[in-house]
Amino acid sequence: MVLETQRLVLREMTQADFPTLCKILQDDDVMYAYDGAFSFDEVQGWLDRQIERYKEFGFGLWAVVLKETGIMIGQCGLSMQDCNNDKVLEVGYLFQKEHWHHGYASEAAIACKEYAFDKLDAKEVYSIIRDTNIPSQNVAIRNGMTCVDKFIKHYRGIDMPHLLFSVKKIL
Ligand SMILES: CC(C)(COP(=O)(O)OP(=O)(O)OC[C@H]1O[C@@H](n2cnc3c(N)ncnc32)[C@H](O)[C@@H]1OP(=O)(O)O)[C@@H](O)C(=O)NCCC(=O)NCCS
Repeated sequence: MVLETQRLVLREMTQADFPTLCKILQDDDVMYAYDGAFSFDEVQGWLDRQIERYKEFGFGLWAVVLKETGIMIGQCGLSMQDCNNDKVLEVGYLFQKEHWHHGYASEAAIACKEYAFDKLDAKEVYSIIRDTNIPSQNVAIRNGMTCVDKFIKHYRGIDMPHLLFSVKKIL
């Protein structure tokens, strides 16, 4: 386990999480921000990338497990992302649709921000969000973030306007 909140446990993903990951990453509604559902190969690539990140950085997107049931309901975590020719430490989150609207994403995102500040000694953390993704922007706002920039992200051959949200550590 990496992190614990009131209702959630965040832990590293393993190959055993592949079926749950498919439920998240192969759902068109969840994957709207990524321009559609992933193939099985793309899901495996995503999982492999998180496992590589754990090894390289000690963090990545983690599995979010509901304490009450022990079941993985989503992913939330930290990763280095390209942004305006720079690298930023991002808090990212994707949850199974049936677990939206319970505050789980915000609870997990806040814990990841605090982990970045307290354990990684980050001075600022970011969330990069498609301009039309209001639920995700609301999570960022609940995480204490404000919008600090706008830019175009090139993804799967498409130009997508994105907003850069950030929050600074209070020193
Ligand atoms: C982004 C995403 C995780 C947000 O999910 P969400 O359910 O809106 O966010 P939360 O889990 O924080 O839940 C907040 C909602 O739960 C409600 N809620 C219920 N119980 C709550 C509690 N105990 N504490 C806090 N909020 C609670 C809030 O009022 C809020 O309601 P709303 O949905 O009507 O605004 C989800 O939409 C998603 O997975 N989207 C697809 C992937 C994606 O876009 N990821 C981000 C890429 S940048």
